[in-house]
Amino acid sequence: MYNYTQEQLDSMKKVEASREQRVGAELRRMTAEEKQTLLQNFHPDYIESAYETLKVGVNKGDKVLHELAGLLQGKSRVLDMNINLEEVAYDVDVLVIGGGGAGCSAAIEADNKGANVLVVTKLRVGDANTMMAEGGIQAADKPNDSPAIHYIDALGGGHYANKPELLSKLVCEAPEAIQWLNDLGVMFDKAEDGTMITTHGGGTSRKRMHACRDYSGAEIMRVLRDEVANRNIPVIDFAPAIELIKDDEGKVAGAVLMNLETGEILIAKAKTVIIATGGAGRLHYQGFPTSNHYGATADGLVIAYRAGAKLLYADTLQYHPTGAAFPTQIFGALVTEKVRSLGAQLVNKEGVAFMNPLETRDVSASSIIRECKERGNGIKTTDGEGIWLDTPMIEIIGGEGTIEKRIPAMMRMFGKYGIDIRKEPILIYPTLHYQNGGIEISANGMTNVENLYVAGEAVGGIHGRNRLMGNSLLDIIVFGRNAGKEAGEKCKTVKVGKLSLNHVNDFAKELKDAGLNPTELSPRILPDYTKKEG
Ligand code: FUM
Repeated sequence: MYNYTQEQLDSMKKVEASREQRVGAELRRMTAEEKQTLLQNFHPDYIESAYETLKVGVNKGDKVLHELAGLLQGKSRVLDMNINLEEVAYDVDVLVIGGGGAGCSAAIEADNKGANVLVVTKLRVGDANTMMAEGGIQAADKPNDSPAIHYIDALGGGHYANKPELLSKLVCEAPEAIQWLNDLGVMFDKAEDGTMITTHGGGTSRKRMHACRDYSGAEIMRVLRDEVANRNIPVIDFAPAIELIKDDEGKVAGAVLMNLETGEILIAKAKTVIIATGGAGRLHYQGFPTSNHYGATADGLVIAYRAGAKLLYADTLQYHPTGAAFPTQIFGALVTEKVRSLGAQLVNKEGVAFMNPLETRDVSASSIIRECKERGNGIKTTDGEGIWLDTPMIEIIGGEGTIEKRIPAMMRMFGKYGIDIRKEPILIYPTLHYQNGGIEISANGMTNVENLYVAGEAVGGIHGRNRLMGNSLLDIIVFGRNAGKEAGEKCKTVKVGKLSLNHVNDFAKELKDAGLNPTELSPRILPDYTKKEG
């Protein structure tokens, strides 16, 4: 057992003591009014002081978090560089920026179209939030379910703000996405008769979460990365795109790449470009820890915005209710929602299960924050406070061995620190997990800027203002493949004109005219964890 404080041990005893009476107890769902009041009072999206209004660009007048505003209105890295756009290092049909699940899916489908594809990625292919995904991927492929029911669940979870044509595509193409992954070799959890095992997630009315234990993202990424390699699709690692290039007609026509090791600048010319750069958790909005990959710094949003692409719902973030709050070595790491799907309850300092564990994420996170901040029912930790996620309930409900079989990664993560989640509850607190918003696209994956496509977490609108669990692994596949097919087809008709970075200079002028004189270079590329003086 971990070396807990006396306060933690006393509270843990209360959790143990109330366990038997909690087994089988039906925990009430909140009413719509209760949820709305809770969100307004405790969800970080509602903290007005965390936001500012954009002064330039296509979303001028919209509010975004300070951290993102600083980057969207930051100083382009290319302004102080002498760039020769005629020295083209790569000339391709489809340039995919990002080597995660969406980028690889896009590259595979563009390759199927016969396009000459290049994948460039900031770190290494597969270093992405896809890899970090644990709990599963939704698809309505069971007899008691349908894409229509999936649509209604996701629409309610998204506060009815989801773009209908995107959500419709997501749910209708979900069963095929699962089949595609299965055929590529993803090892989904299956029953003895070969049917897929599916579970609930927060806000789902049917069991439609397909998983690979609790390494769903790692398993999917393994297969996609292999497929890209097996097809010999060229990939350049450690080469972030620091700006998009347009042609003299204002259409997107490539990107400026930077060799992360040498700083060398490389020009990639392309007929179509797909941004698949993922999320922004490493911006640590409002000081939250994050479950995100090291490279999640909103780079795609920044370069797309400068090129004139519209953002949608960039003000709304997802705080996963169960980030590890303790021990400090894994502070902020994801504790998959599957833990709650399998029966673990959220329990406060007094041993009371204070909410239904499968409310939607925004509601669950807010409820945990309220329990700690307003009701004083949190348990002190090294980094702040948390509440209990009573994992031993899983073994009681599902039988001995369930944890090891269904969530081995969780067992190992805590086991490293001497915490046996089969026997002891764990401490959790919300962690920054996902950007609900991003760059707006049409159903064909293209932005308002000609020949610029987006897929994956960098897209805004699919999930409205709150995504349900398992719809992200799904969207990277559905919209990654979609962007690859569309860009792979479109490039056949594109003639690229003279390359230009005029849009970057125009944006810099707009900043100056608005009285802004940014010194912060953007995109950020890597998070800054250097210790500040003082
Ligand atoms: O809780 C989780 O396993 C996370 C899944 C997701 O964000 O879709």
